[in-house]
Amino acid sequence: MTTHAKAVIIGKPVSHARSPLIHGFWLHQLGLDGRYDRLEVEPGAVRKTLQQFRAEGYRGGNVTVPHKEEAFAACDELTEAARIAGAVNTFWFEDGRIHGDNTDGSGFVAHLDATHPGWDANRPNILVVGAGGAARGVIVPLLNRSIGAMTIVNRSSERARILANDIVRARPGTNIAVENWTDLAGLLARTDLLINTTSLGMKGQPPLDLPLQQLPSSAIVADIVYVPLETPLLAAAKARGLRTLDGLGMLLHQAVPGFERWFGARPAVDAALRAHILADLAGS
Ligand SMILES: NC(=O)c1ccc[n+]([C@@H]2O[C@H](COP(=O)([O-])OP(=O)(O)OC[C@H]3O[C@@H](n4cnc5c(N)ncnc54)[C@H](OP(=O)(O)O)[C@@H]3O)[C@@H](O)[C@H]2O)c1
Repeated sequence: MTTHAKAVIIGKPVSHARSPLIHGFWLHQLGLDGRYDRLEVEPGAVRKTLQQFRAEGYRGGNVTVPHKEEAFAACDELTEAARIAGAVNTFWFEDGRIHGDNTDGSGFVAHLDATHPGWDANRPNILVVGAGGAARGVIVPLLNRSIGAMTIVNRSSERARILANDIVRARPGTNIAVENWTDLAGLLARTDLLINTTSLGMKGQPPLDLPLQQLPSSAIVADIVYVPLETPLLAAAKARGLRTLDGLGMLLHQAVPGFERWFGARPAVDAALRAHILADLAGS
């Protein structure tokens, strides 16, 4: 058991971040006397702040909006996921160097594995809607699995093309199709896993409205938006009898690798943690 370890999240603002709740829950559950702080940091001050954390004995921490790109630039070592994402959400100190990872995508896949085991048994065709920061994180770990086609559709198709090119540059030989937003509905009939990575469906945003009846009845519909937990897209998928995956599981699972690194124990994403965070979301 590792004691007295401390980690921290930076952002601006950082008061809304759920990571302190998640890590605090695990520290308590596992009986560790570690600490997880939050600090609001001004843009431009991320590198200096990380160096200060190292000097103050922090093990590492998380990075949230708008500092993920600045943290990426401040790291000495990066994982492949962080390099392709161009963003760091988890950092730690090792051998005097700052290491950065992006665990959003592996969190998404861990949630998928936990809730829909065997989802990749028949080389599913995947359709990712969106090409923003979250899509960058989600696509790479999916490519590590046994999948059929990977297709990206984004409102701005140029952004989807840039993302696909960045991935192919990092992983030569990767096959990724980019299709137009106007062709989205027509792609559904050959989609086994549909993933919304846009902010459509988020509280205050219009829904991602698709003719889901065109999906095969065995398809899974995933949304990474988690406020509300049941987005209009997920509600429509459930009404059609399709399997669904909500965005909260990704948020919980992305926290696992960081906790394990800083505090030395692998935590579980269980029903109690989910209920704890759901209660907070309901109150906000
Ligand atoms: N569950 C989790 O743990 C988790 C983690 C990260 C993010 N998220 C959620 O994922 C969502 C996206 O985050 P992000 O960091 O990727 O944001 P981002 O980099 O700003 O990208 C936003 C994406 O949404 C698209 N979009 C926005 N408004 C749209 C509209 N009216 N019509 C069509 N497309 C629209 C954008 O398309 P254009 O490129 O055409 O503008 C882009 O693809 C947010 O809701 C965020 O809360 C969840």
